[in-house]
Amino acid sequence: MKFFVDTADVGEIRELAETGLLDGVTTNPTLIAKSGRDVFEVLEEICGIVDGPVSGEVTAMDAEGMIREGEKLSKIAKNLTVKLPLTFEGIKACSHLSKQGIMTNVTLCFSPAQAILAAKAGATFISPFVGRLDDIGQDGMQLIRDICTIYSQYDAIKTEVLVASVRSPMHIVEAGKVGAHVATIPAKVIKQLFKHPLTDSGLEAFLKDWESTGQSIA
Ligand code: E4P
Repeated sequence: MKFFVDTADVGEIRELAETGLLDGVTTNPTLIAKSGRDVFEVLEEICGIVDGPVSGEVTAMDAEGMIREGEKLSKIAKNLTVKLPLTFEGIKACSHLSKQGIMTNVTLCFSPAQAILAAKAGATFISPFVGRLDDIGQDGMQLIRDICTIYSQYDAIKTEVLVASVRSPMHIVEAGKVGAHVATIPAKVIKQLFKHPLTDSGLEAFLKDWESTGQSIA
């Protein structure tokens, strides 16, 4: 499973890139606002840190405007992926940009039917939001299972399932069980993935015993 980090904070991105585990980045207008930076400037910097896809989202509401913004964003770098909302206009823009060979990420997907539309429009990624479905009492992971099942019926579908709105390590484990291609994860949750109390207590015991030998490997 590929790991993207869901942030526009370059400090977090640089830190995680050092692990060698980072395959890409997703941003959205909320995350750009949180960064307090100019959208073009911050996306360019992020594209220089990570080789993989970096999603930058359009904000126009009509297809023409989205295409214009998408083409402008795509000039930032070759790994810039244009993020488009799952609306009638967004799907129209996705078809257009995909045909031009521009990478696209269709976002705000909340149903399998919507995911079928994105695949038909040639989206590079579909972003189903699991956490926001869980938040309203629905089973977010069921949406991932359904989309993975549908996409796997067709060899022609190349769209990758990008699990979004991730809230906990269990979302990642469940996404892995059904073979989701990518998860975009907040930095805090990526760090939680490393944690296990038995790792901490085991390491503490090993170090204590090692100290008693008086030896050094360094
Ligand atoms: C996806 O690309 C979105 O940026 C993101 O995952 C939304 O997550 P949220 O529901 O935590 O805002």
